[in-house]
Amino acid sequence: MKKKIDVLEYLDGRHYDSKVKSRKRYDDITFYINKVIDYGEPVLELACGTGRVTIPIAKKGISITGLDLLNTMLTEAKRKSKETGVEIEWIEADMTNFNLNKKFNLILMPGCAFNWFLDLKSVEKYLICVKRHLNPNGGLIFDAFNPDLNLLVRDPSKTYPNAKYQDPDGGGLIIVSENTKYDKATQINKVRLSYSISDKTITNELKLRIFFPQELDAILKYNGFEINAKYGDFDQTPFISDSRRQILVCQVKQ
Ligand SMILES: C[S@@+](CC[C@H](N)C(=O)[O-])C[C@H]1O[C@@H](n2cnc3c(N)ncnc32)[C@H](O)[C@@H]1O
Repeated sequence: MKKKIDVLEYLDGRHYDSKVKSRKRYDDITFYINKVIDYGEPVLELACGTGRVTIPIAKKGISITGLDLLNTMLTEAKRKSKETGVEIEWIEADMTNFNLNKKFNLILMPGCAFNWFLDLKSVEKYLICVKRHLNPNGGLIFDAFNPDLNLLVRDPSKTYPNAKYQDPDGGGLIIVSENTKYDKATQINKVRLSYSISDKTITNELKLRIFFPQELDAILKYNGFEINAKYGDFDQTPFISDSRRQILVCQVKQ
C-alpha cells in the first residue's frame, strides 16, 4: 500500500519549491553536477521531488531519470521540465521497491530524503534496489542530517519558527512554525508543521528518522557498500562533529 503523506508542501510541489526558494541554501546542485561529470551518465535520482536537482543536471545535456513516490511532486517536476525544454524520464515509484530493468553509473538522493526511511527494513530494501541498478564501479551519493542534539531535546509543547514563504496561489506570506517530539527508542522525530495562510492554519505531521553518524556508516558497511568519502558540506569539507549534513559518496563493495 502506498505511504500516505499529508504535508502541505508535499501535497502540492509548488509549496515545496516556494519554501525552498525562501531559504538561504547551500549549493548542493553544483556539487551533484560535478559528481555526475566524475561518474558519467546515465544518472538516476531517487526521491527527486519537484526536480530541483534533476532539471539543472538535465540542462547540462546529461541523461537522467527522476523517481519519486508522490505524483503531487512529480506533477510540478513535469511542468517545469516541459517549460525548460529538457527531456527527463519521470517515474512514480517507491524507492524501496522498484525495478527499472536498467543500470546507471550514478544514483543520487539529495535533500535528506534518507531521513524519510523510518526503519532499518526500508533502508535495506532501498539498498537492494540501488545495488540492482548500479553499473560496476557506479556511485551512490546521498545526504542525511547530522543529528543536532539541541533540536532533539526540545520541549514538544514549545513552538519554533520553521519558514516564511510566498503562497503560490497569491494568498500572501505563509508562516510556518513547528513543534517536535523525538522518540529516543525509535529515533523518530515527529515534526508538527503549522502553516498560517491568511486567516487559516493547516497543521500536518511529518516523521523523520534520525541516523547517527556511526550507525549510518555501519548500515552501509553491513549492506555491502564502501564509503569513498564522507563530507560535512557541499564544498566537500570533511564530515566533523558540527557538520549540518552527512554527505556520503559510496559504491558497492567489489
Ligand atoms: C525533502 S524532499 C527532497 C526532494 C528533492 N530530492 C530535493 O532535494 O529537492 C523528499 C522527497 O522524498 C520523497 N520520498 C519519500 N519517501 C519516498 C520513497 N519511499 N520512494 C520515493 N520517494 C520518496 C518525497 O516524496 C519527497 O519528494
